[in-house]
Amino acid sequence: LLFILAACGTSQTSGSTKSDAKKTLRVVTDAAYAPFEYQDKGEVVGFDIDFIKAVAKEAGYNVKVDNVGWDPLFVEIKGKTADIGLSAITINDERKQTYDFSTPYFLSKNEILVPKNSDIKNAQDLKGKTVAVQNGTTGQDAVEALLGKNSDKLKKFENNNLAIMELKSGGANAVVADNTVVEQYVKNNPQDNLKVIEDDTAFNKEFYGLMFAKGSTLKADFDKAITKVLDNGTYAKLYKQWFKV
Ligand code: ARG
Repeated sequence: LLFILAACGTSQTSGSTKSDAKKTLRVVTDAAYAPFEYQDKGEVVGFDIDFIKAVAKEAGYNVKVDNVGWDPLFVEIKGKTADIGLSAITINDERKQTYDFSTPYFLSKNEILVPKNSDIKNAQDLKGKTVAVQNGTTGQDAVEALLGKNSDKLKKFENNNLAIMELKSGGANAVVADNTVVEQYVKNNPQDNLKVIEDDTAFNKEFYGLMFAKGSTLKADFDKAITKVLDNGTYAKLYKQWFKV
């Protein structure tokens, strides 16, 4: 019996291409968006990082995460110098024209980050104020919808941490970015005296997805793996670990 089992095991292994040599995929990110992806002692960590590792394992791939920054990430996926964009990326119609997305894995919406003593109470109050955003994000889209597309009151930054620094130094009255990010920032930085404002009338629900080049054959494997990770309790475990709920 042992011999038969061993023989089956061997023939199965050699018959499967994936287990021979796992392919390593290049994953690109902008690691300035805690708790999704950020740098800790020189290492890129976060919910997204643990999530992609679990999903890739399920799909039969290794991953190597490279912190290339937000704008370059899109260039790399389009140019196919990287395999997967992983960066709390919202799935939207504009991006879907150029990229393919996985099945959604996280629900989000924009929120407003302001000083505790701010007179801003809702999204409409942003009119006439200086607002800092990360360039090329749905936060920018949301603020442009309120202030106008070429408003000189809109300050765009390469990453979200720089936008928050602008707010802290008084160069902006507000930052608009994803709820989980600004909420965790307020919680972790009480000395900054900031608060978060929600406005469901101005900001829509968004879903994050993994981003691929159009037509990428990886999408099918990763969609299946995401469903598995959602169903088998791995996602819930990671969610609890990173968002403490
Ligand atoms: N969810 C927003 C968007 O897709 C912001 C994502 C920013 N992510 C980041 N890692 N900086 O536009």
